[in-house]
Amino acid sequence: MYSIRGAGQWSRALAAEGATVVGLDLSEAQLAAGARAMGAARYPLVQGAAEQLPFAADSFDLVFCDFGGLSWAPPHLAVPQAARVLGRGGRLVFNVASPWFEACYDEAASRVTTTLQQDYFGLNTIAEDDGATSYQLTYGDWVKVLRGAGLIIDDLIEPRPELGTPNGYNETDPPDWAHRWPAELLWVTHKP
Ligand SMILES: C[S@@+](CC[C@H](N)C(=O)[O-])C[C@H]1O[C@@H](n2cnc3c(N)ncnc32)[C@H](O)[C@@H]1O
Repeated sequence: MYSIRGAGQWSRALAAEGATVVGLDLSEAQLAAGARAMGAARYPLVQGAAEQLPFAADSFDLVFCDFGGLSWAPPHLAVPQAARVLGRGGRLVFNVASPWFEACYDEAASRVTTTLQQDYFGLNTIAEDDGATSYQLTYGDWVKVLRGAGLIIDDLIEPRPELGTPNGYNETDPPDWAHRWPAELLWVTHKP
């Protein structure tokens, strides 16, 4: 089991429940933060890129990623890598920002609004504040990339916070924007 994570919250939670976890991140600083935050249940942290995983084929029964490498690495490279390291029946579960969220992002105001700001088609790469690039696919392209990697799509969950719940990560206008439109997509897939 492994995760592409930042400070490793989910890895920590699963390790505490007795799972065998390996955490992976590109950033040495993030790995150090994960190591500092680690609880009594210790697990290895590995530096590596989602698009070139340093793991053998068929070695994990779950790959999960919470706005990690699958948002920040080209999905047409990262998804086949995740599929490669999964054993048969293993699951790839991850979340990414929704195309709605990206299309309604107002660069000048630095927030998500109720107005379409960008075309849905061709979002592709999003230039982020710190010079990094995130990747945005259409719903159709996600289906193609996942199926192209040999994965079966079991679910696409669009979390809907309660009315009045502010977005905890990005500024949105209104603050409970995500009650009205999906801010994120949670893909649930498995390797047959
Ligand atoms: C938004 S943070 C993830 C936050 C994480 N879910 C948490 O709560 O800490 C994105 C993470 O992806 C990592 N990352 C960026 N590009 C990556 C890549 N190509 N492969 C693996 N990890 C990557 C970053 O170093 C960062 O730790």
